[in-house]
Amino acid sequence: MRHPIIAPSILSADFARLGEEVRAVDAAGADWIHLDVMDGHFVPNLTFGPPVIKALRSYTQKPFDVHLMIAPADPYLAAFAEAGANTITVHAEAGPHAHRSLQTIRALGKRAGLAINPGTPASAVEPLIDMLDLVLVMTVNPGFGGQSFIESALETVSRVRAMTAGRAVDIEVDGGIDAQTVGRAAAAGANVFVAGNAVFRDGPSAYVSRIAAIRAGAEAASGGTLSC
Ligand code: DX5
Ligand code: ZN
Repeated sequence: MRHPIIAPSILSADFARLGEEVRAVDAAGADWIHLDVMDGHFVPNLTFGPPVIKALRSYTQKPFDVHLMIAPADPYLAAFAEAGANTITVHAEAGPHAHRSLQTIRALGKRAGLAINPGTPASAVEPLIDMLDLVLVMTVNPGFGGQSFIESALETVSRVRAMTAGRAVDIEVDGGIDAQTVGRAAAAGANVFVAGNAVFRDGPSAYVSRIAAIRAGAEAASGGTLSC
């Protein structure tokens, strides 16, 4: 059993002050820092790559949870590992060789994650289960912060949780997570909660209360601890 992990996504931070934003959410109680990498090809948006992650590394000791929304991912995995990623997550939909990508991530000494979009069945995870430290179930279509939570993704979370029973696999939800939706995601079996808009929306003075509210919502739904 373990406590919920709250991972603010800096996609919704002030990009002109990224270092200070990372430091601020760390001080406000973030467990992990979630970094959304987008390529304008796999998703219709562009963000940042390894140099920005490397530049942020000295601003916190907290784990960097790197979510790659890029295709192909394989040519860049070593660069993200060197930049300071702790977990590297690739999308099942990003190419035909997810197993190879996960092998590469583990060979680089990093935790390996597989993400699935809302339109992808939980069964896509099953053949890869022995390769995984984390499954990221998207609860919006990837590409943008501030979208509405997709309720049907909760069924996918439940299925993935059943599939990973007895294994030390984190189940992460990403998209539309706030103090309300987090409870349903926790009840379905998630234990890692990414939140962009819900943390950063009102600026640094609200970070402590926003993170605490999301954590409280997760704990209320799970009795304080979550199985993993
Ligand atoms: C979306 C990203 C998310 C995003 C979540 O493609 O993967 O991490 O930042 O943002 P919110 O919490 O605002 O939905
Ligand atoms: Zn993300």
